[in-house]
Amino acid sequence: MKYDNIHIVETLDGSHTLKFADINEHYHSINGAVQESLHVFIKNGFHYINKTKLNILEAGFGTGLNAMLTFREAEKCDKIVDYTTLELYPVNENIFLKLNYAEILNINSDIYFIPLHTCEWNNNIELSKNFHFKKININLSKYTDNKLFDIIYFDAFSPDKQAELWTETVFKKMFSMLNTGGILVTYSAKGEVKRNLRSAGFTVTRLQGAAGKHHMIRAVKTNAINK
Ligand SMILES: C[S@@+](CC[C@H](N)C(=O)[O-])C[C@H]1O[C@@H](n2cnc3c(N)ncnc32)[C@H](O)[C@@H]1O
Repeated sequence: MKYDNIHIVETLDGSHTLKFADINEHYHSINGAVQESLHVFIKNGFHYINKTKLNILEAGFGTGLNAMLTFREAEKCDKIVDYTTLELYPVNENIFLKLNYAEILNINSDIYFIPLHTCEWNNNIELSKNFHFKKININLSKYTDNKLFDIIYFDAFSPDKQAELWTETVFKKMFSMLNTGGILVTYSAKGEVKRNLRSAGFTVTRLQGAAGKHHMIRAVKTNAINK
């Protein structure tokens, strides 16, 4: 894919998203980028796991919105979060400097947002006592790690646009990188996604979706064995 045809769009809650025109795909729901991230990843992901120390993996760093919200939540709840995020096509400075998330959420961009974009790639960075961050410039389908995660934010482009990332093979790899009891959350509740997650070994629950969407998925690694 060529990533030079991206522009900022305002969603219904007033927060920005990006539109990648070549594949006619938005980075978030046009019904509200912030409300979607808060619902899918923070409420139904971050707050579902009751541990004081969390290892989180994000597939698709994009605008940095999920990472920023998680950083803020880690501080609010005094949890220690180790956050690893994968991105093949980083958003450039001309774009991320214009995104209005910090303004909309009334949080300090210089602490919670800009450093996520400007920090070094492929290195562990302690952004605060509570939030340890590593962004990796890699293709999700090539990524493996010995580290085990508690939560995976699966936030790739939609299965209609990037079917190759929503396969049983990719989900088996995600499954193998989770602790038992760990979860994968995603905004898509497409039938094929549920089937592929189940084939990969997950126990799949369909939850109320974010505004404008019927459902989302939380997939739990209830058993350590791949089916
Ligand atoms: C739905 S957007 C992610 C939104 C992001 N979580 C946020 O908060 O803005 C999907 C992201 O996945 C990235 N991506 C696409 N293909 C990828 C791949 N094969 N490996 C890693 N990242 C990929 C895109 O560049 C884009 O940033």
